[in-house]
Amino acid sequence: MDGHQECSLLERLIEYRRELHEHPELSFKEYETAERIRAWLKEAGIPVVDSEIETAVIAEITGNQEGPTIALRADIDALPINEETGLPFASKREGVMHACGHDFHTAAMIGAAILLHAKKDKLKGKVLILFQPAEEIAQGAVALEKAGVLQDVEAIFGMHNKPDLPVGTIGVREGSLMASVDRFELDVYGIGGHAGIPDNTIDPIVVAGQIIVALQSIVSRNISSFHNAVISITQIHGGNTWNVIPGKVTMEGTVRTFQNEARELIPQLMKRTAEGIAAGFAARADFRWHPYLPVVNNDARFTEVIKEAAQNLDYTFVEAEQSPAGEDFAFYQTKIPGFFVWIGVGGEFDWHHPRYDLNEEALEVAANYFAELAMVYLENHE
Ligand code: NI
Repeated sequence: MDGHQECSLLERLIEYRRELHEHPELSFKEYETAERIRAWLKEAGIPVVDSEIETAVIAEITGNQEGPTIALRADIDALPINEETGLPFASKREGVMHACGHDFHTAAMIGAAILLHAKKDKLKGKVLILFQPAEEIAQGAVALEKAGVLQDVEAIFGMHNKPDLPVGTIGVREGSLMASVDRFELDVYGIGGHAGIPDNTIDPIVVAGQIIVALQSIVSRNISSFHNAVISITQIHGGNTWNVIPGKVTMEGTVRTFQNEARELIPQLMKRTAEGIAAGFAARADFRWHPYLPVVNNDARFTEVIKEAAQNLDYTFVEAEQSPAGEDFAFYQTKIPGFFVWIGVGGEFDWHHPRYDLNEEALEVAANYFAELAMVYLENHE
């Protein structure tokens, strides 16, 4: 049965979004979500290509004219949050919520697929629409890339909804938009012993204290004042009683940067500083770096086409504010050039809030925008 003959695109996308919102699924568990996406694409006559990733869906729109292949990406997973919106279509799964609006991204990209499918005659190339699982745990993009999805794709575009921007507004920023997110562990080894006889020990607590202070000088003394970075030590453990000096202190924390240069430099300086200070006290530091997410880095070659698409539709583009949150779209951008934008959704609460919500009229804005962007890009890049 095709119940969508009479209703508008917006009504249809609202229906999709609400259905996804009611049935949120966590990262790599998006089985029903993927099934719904496949069914809606099928209903619209849009072919889906196979991939190894069970909960990913890749729609393929092949234009009737020759041209390159580009990708549009929507993330589809939800968060382990208990919804408190009280909406009639609030999550039916306790403790799981679309609190980052990935239901919005998914429905809007289905809209873009429907619009592009209708314009196949004029489309000069191919558009892949990636419905990507597991963004929230920063593993979906890597998995799709490893599965070879980006083969033959020359550019990729994506979005995040932005509650503090009004509907009809696109936030655009070339260069870094979202922060890198990395984790480190740091252990300091000394020699434990009697707290009253410290001269017979190498006290790792004192060494750790010196290291902490020194690490907090790295950003202020080594990073350009035009760049921004954060080093936070978030856990420290050492000792288990009052009269014994422990043999070891363990620490953990995170580093955020907005420039890949800073992201490469900071762990080198942290390691050198920690090891150097420890050596000065005849102790030993073991610094371990766990890369997690690169910087979302927008390719300046696409700024013009990004703005042109907004202008063609009379949407307002504003200079996007950077966000210290991470986004696994950044992985694609380490392989092929891409651009990530904010789509204004005019909501009261920000991402990951239990009362997060958005203005659904933005669904049509995002759908129109990404369809137009694909058309304009392929028109100009033969
Ligand atoms: Ni998100």
